[in-house]
Amino acid sequence: MKLGLIGYPIAHSLSPWIHNQLLDRHEMTGAYQLYECETDRFANKVEEIKAENINGFNVTVPYKEQVLPYLDELDEAARFLGAVNTVKVVNGRLIGYNTDGIGYVASLVDRYADAVDRSKRVLILGSGGAARGIFHAIVKQGVGKIDLANRTIEKAQKLIDDFAAHSVSEALSLQEAEDNLAQYDLIIQTTSVGMAPNQEQTPISLSGITKDTIVSDIVYRPMKTDFLKEAEEKGARLHYGHGMLLHQAIYAFQIWTGKSTDASVMMEAFEHKLK
Ligand code: ATR
Repeated sequence: MKLGLIGYPIAHSLSPWIHNQLLDRHEMTGAYQLYECETDRFANKVEEIKAENINGFNVTVPYKEQVLPYLDELDEAARFLGAVNTVKVVNGRLIGYNTDGIGYVASLVDRYADAVDRSKRVLILGSGGAARGIFHAIVKQGVGKIDLANRTIEKAQKLIDDFAAHSVSEALSLQEAEDNLAQYDLIIQTTSVGMAPNQEQTPISLSGITKDTIVSDIVYRPMKTDFLKEAEEKGARLHYGHGMLLHQAIYAFQIWTGKSTDASVMMEAFEHKLK
């Protein structure tokens, strides 16, 4: 199996570690390589990767949208999201997928089996690329309510319009969300606030949550963000961001190889690697 990752910067990516572990676990030969490339060389890099007879590759920032014109086919999630994180090469044809949203939901349900169903009220903080994937995956799964709060409220509204999700979703300012937190069963933090090197910041205060609330942060560096620390102080249930990373990779590996993997067998080693 010849696999890899295209993006910039990717020198500190954990994907090679995850996929090389997956290859080992499934007793498959091959390697997962980094194809770091700056914007002006992106087109050449895609051609280069294709010419190497690669079986599949991941796409990360800043190319998840930019890769679309090079693909021959898109799966439903990738088409809907307009962004691709996984490409499978079949007889020289490039097929694009997006495993970020389903990876997130799988990591959440692995930890809290009852986290998402039609009785649940969900709040997503942020309306960027990550929020888009998660919003799509949760709306598809079926949920009672799923509001979007964002610094730029127009972007939250656009996401709801794009997904025609008006019956289950409302766009809010961060302040409006903060003032009404007790109504939510699950709060998902997807903004870049709290990500190193700005780890002392949180997008909203969690003083309004209840003990039963699940508070989830997709930031995984640091693993326990200040947002999660505040949730912990309130006695809430926590969900860390690194699970999404592992699960989106496991889905990608399954697309490339047909092999499925139980994430729990890798979680401890992965957490150790993250520290
Ligand atoms: P990603 O692909 O990781 O989601 P993105 O598309 O750049 O990244 O989105 C970043 C998200 O973090 C957005 O929701 C952004 O809010 P805006 O839409 O208003 O830009 C949010 N964000 C970034 N910095 C922020 C800050 N200082 N305060 C509040 N929200 C912030």
